[in-house]
Amino acid sequence: MENIPQKINGNFKGKDIITLDQFLKKDIDILFSKTSKMKKLVQAKGGSSLLKGKIMTALFYEPSSRTFGSFVTSMQRLGGGFIPLQGMGNSSVAKGESLEDTIQTFSSYSDMIVIRHSEVGSAKIAASATEIPVINAGDGIGEHPTQALLDLYTIYEKHKKLDNLIGVIAGDIKNGRTTHSLIRGLSIFKKNTLYLLSPRQIRLSRMDFENFTKRGIKLIEIEKEIDLPKNAHFWYWTRIQKERFENLKHFEKVKNSFTLTRKLVNTYGNSKMIIMHPLPRVNEIDKEVDNDTGAVYLKHQMRNGMYLRMALLALVVGKI
Ligand code: NCD
Repeated sequence: MENIPQKINGNFKGKDIITLDQFLKKDIDILFSKTSKMKKLVQAKGGSSLLKGKIMTALFYEPSSRTFGSFVTSMQRLGGGFIPLQGMGNSSVAKGESLEDTIQTFSSYSDMIVIRHSEVGSAKIAASATEIPVINAGDGIGEHPTQALLDLYTIYEKHKKLDNLIGVIAGDIKNGRTTHSLIRGLSIFKKNTLYLLSPRQIRLSRMDFENFTKRGIKLIEIEKEIDLPKNAHFWYWTRIQKERFENLKHFEKVKNSFTLTRKLVNTYGNSKMIIMHPLPRVNEIDKEVDNDTGAVYLKHQMRNGMYLRMALLALVVGKI
């Protein structure tokens, strides 16, 4: 278990994708250049038969629309097949099967496994139970690496750099796994500053705050909109993760903190920044913002997820 997950170090073939900590700058460069090729391929021809004969298991123990849908379509656009398992309550898990046994089963049918699970560390446990690549599609409040990679790609596409950036992350920073991966990802590059806007109850755990800060990224925790910087390159709003609260009264207290409105954009935003959200949103971005030129959450942020997952799937099975 010690050497799982392995560093990518320029070679994706056969590797699990569990955390952003596996990536160096050169790995991000490789992935982004392949992602741009996939984007061109889809725009020109819709897809190819690159992954013909390959099968992906999509093993989702927790709800998902985009992540599940984009992994499945990524396989289909490259001519591969998939085993779709959503709502594992209908499977042998309901009979008490262990995660390891389930993983062994689908390793004998498929060439890679994409897993979403409610427990932190579950993707790593899955990876230890099989030789085929395992991709973490969200492990509880842990990480969601492919979301962060598509977020980084979206920021890169707009600003042509991933260093010297000023960003705002707002919402549930304690429980939001996409933010944990994004902060790790932005820490790979130099001189990035993040303003973390959240109520005190759902700011980063002190352990995460210390661990992240040690990597050299500047994290500025704020609790009021008035402290937002006006020169941000991106705003990244997130959903308050209701399902992670043990006591719903605590959720009720913070549920409508910080709604992103046109007024907020006009007051603290700027014309060059992009507005992002991993989705789903509940109330935290007003619909009036959807058509702003900088609002990418319902547009290319999501589409980039498909291009990036196409590239990643092809890389881990060694086809590109
Ligand atoms: C996120 C997740 O599942 O962590 N969704 C996603 O995959 N884009 C964000 C969320 O659920 O709030």
